[in-house]
Amino acid sequence: MHSLFAKAARFRLLALGLPALLVLGPPAVLALGTGGAGTPAGASAVPYLDPAVPVAARVDDLLSRMSLDDKLGQMTQAERRYVTPAEAGKYRIGSILSAGGSAPKPNTPEGWADMYDAFQKGALSAPLRIPMMYGVDAVHGDNNVVGATIFPHNIGLGATRDPALVRDIGAATAEEMTATGVDWDFAPCVCVARDDRWGRTYESFGEVPELPSAMTTLIDGLQGGKLGGPSSVLATAKHFVGDGGTEDGRDRGDTEISEKDLRAVHLPPFQEAVRRGVGSVMVSYSSWNGVKMHANRYLITDVLKGELGFTGFVVSDYEGVGRIDGKPDLTKEEVAKAINTGIDMVMVPEKWKEFIADLRAEVKDGTVPMARIDDANRRILTKKVQLGLFERPLADRSGLRTVGNAAHRALARRAVAESQVLLKNEGVLPLRRGGKIFVAGRSADDIGMQSGGWTVTWQGSPGKTTPGTTILEGIRQAAGETSKVAYDRDGKGIDKSYGAAVAVVGEKPYAEYHGDRPDGLALDDEDLKTIDRLRASGVPVAVVLVSGRPLDIASQLGGWNALVASWLPGTEGEGVADVLFGDARPAGRLPVTWPRDGDQEPINAGDGKKPLFPFGYGLTYGG
Ligand code: GLC
Repeated sequence: MHSLFAKAARFRLLALGLPALLVLGPPAVLALGTGGAGTPAGASAVPYLDPAVPVAARVDDLLSRMSLDDKLGQMTQAERRYVTPAEAGKYRIGSILSAGGSAPKPNTPEGWADMYDAFQKGALSAPLRIPMMYGVDAVHGDNNVVGATIFPHNIGLGATRDPALVRDIGAATAEEMTATGVDWDFAPCVCVARDDRWGRTYESFGEVPELPSAMTTLIDGLQGGKLGGPSSVLATAKHFVGDGGTEDGRDRGDTEISEKDLRAVHLPPFQEAVRRGVGSVMVSYSSWNGVKMHANRYLITDVLKGELGFTGFVVSDYEGVGRIDGKPDLTKEEVAKAINTGIDMVMVPEKWKEFIADLRAEVKDGTVPMARIDDANRRILTKKVQLGLFERPLADRSGLRTVGNAAHRALARRAVAESQVLLKNEGVLPLRRGGKIFVAGRSADDIGMQSGGWTVTWQGSPGKTTPGTTILEGIRQAAGETSKVAYDRDGKGIDKSYGAAVAVVGEKPYAEYHGDRPDGLALDDEDLKTIDRLRASGVPVAVVLVSGRPLDIASQLGGWNALVASWLPGTEGEGVADVLFGDARPAGRLPVTWPRDGDQEPINAGDGKKPLFPFGYGLTYGG
């Protein structure tokens, strides 16, 4: 029996003048022929495997050959720790992900490429040989991989006001990713952070929609001019929609605003991402006026896919479907709800077998129409064809030497320098060479602290987590032979003989809800003691704040001679030193309003509140 797709496929092939001699038989029955890289063993080059055939015709042909199990598998994304390569083939798994920090051993670029290829060969062992996609959170460089270039987090990139730079960062990130095989990036986060107490504020480019919208150039960098080009990965606009607007900045909370405000503040970056051809959109854990986004058919199907015309595919967040009812277990009802809402692929890291069984049952009893399954598959398969995965399913290891290379680190250093925001300066900056400089602070000589969350591990951590240059090392390099640079983490040993002191302090790494700070944004005692020790010496003190957001420092600012918001600069600490010594003029401008007092949160441009520093504020040297 010819499915509708079979007839459509034959028609399309005939219309293209292609020999439709092939018997578009029942699923997984292929004409005999010679095997090839992307060709099923023992099968001839059939339309869906022929790159000369238009994408839509290839997808039609493939759909016409797929069984229900093939289609259910394509909508399933499992986490690497809970699936084997053999299962990837047996269950026709469409995608596998690494959750934050979920890395192969050894965690090296080659180790990643070996892991990717093993899973891919597993997926290709299925009869139709549909390649899987591998997704990671490369949110500031290919940050799960030890040795990768770690760029500033988005809040710092928002301070640069430089969309072209952000595009180049996307291209460099894609280069380092594809070298390891990975072909899908859960980035950019285009959230609009409205309350700095939110643990994901640093993943936002800024508090007004214009900034994340402008920085969707990251999508162009990641995907390349056209999907499937050299070093092209699928980008993801996330998290749809309103994740940055929840009450009290609570991660995964409820965004209680009118549709007018939702459309004015949180939707524009997605409109721009869709306009730029983003390949996927990830749904937010948060709710809108009490309705979970994972169950919001109006916004996902009617607005995103209908009104905005999004033709890529929608992926759930991690176990997001299982949380629709507020409880952690996955239910058949939640599966049906999510798929009928318009979610095309479900990130179901551990319970993926349960998901497939539930969805099969829901299709068989008609709760989920086959048309919805086919639409989801069409969207997913179109991206796989466009990415060129059928032709080049395995890692292209020729790019391995780009991981952490000098060119990418130089780009990151430039991004760091452009992201620094000078908020106060009584003349202690720029630092003068040839004198004595005292450096202190727990964030001065620590790659982990200056990189923040989503660095090698999900939460990030202090310490030598990955190769790079600390801010102290950058200061030492910039100071040169004519200067004397002393360092003590606590500031002990400083005396009047020093011309300037630099205190590098701020926040310890965190990610997501672990970074929610509903109780205030003050500096902690350790940092305050360090600064006080420096001030007691009478030496002018420049404070460099390494944090994922504005902190509550108004009451201390009077005693500081200079303040630089450094954000979370990543592995290239020299970029901070470039600004401190004036080798790069400070040009960064606040991407978020800086509160006078933590109790002012949420505080944003135009809300009538009186901040310490307004959105867009930033000083430079000599003017
Ligand atoms: C996380 C995050 C999301 C990320 C996903 C996969 O919980 O919300 O941003 O892409 O899971 O790691």
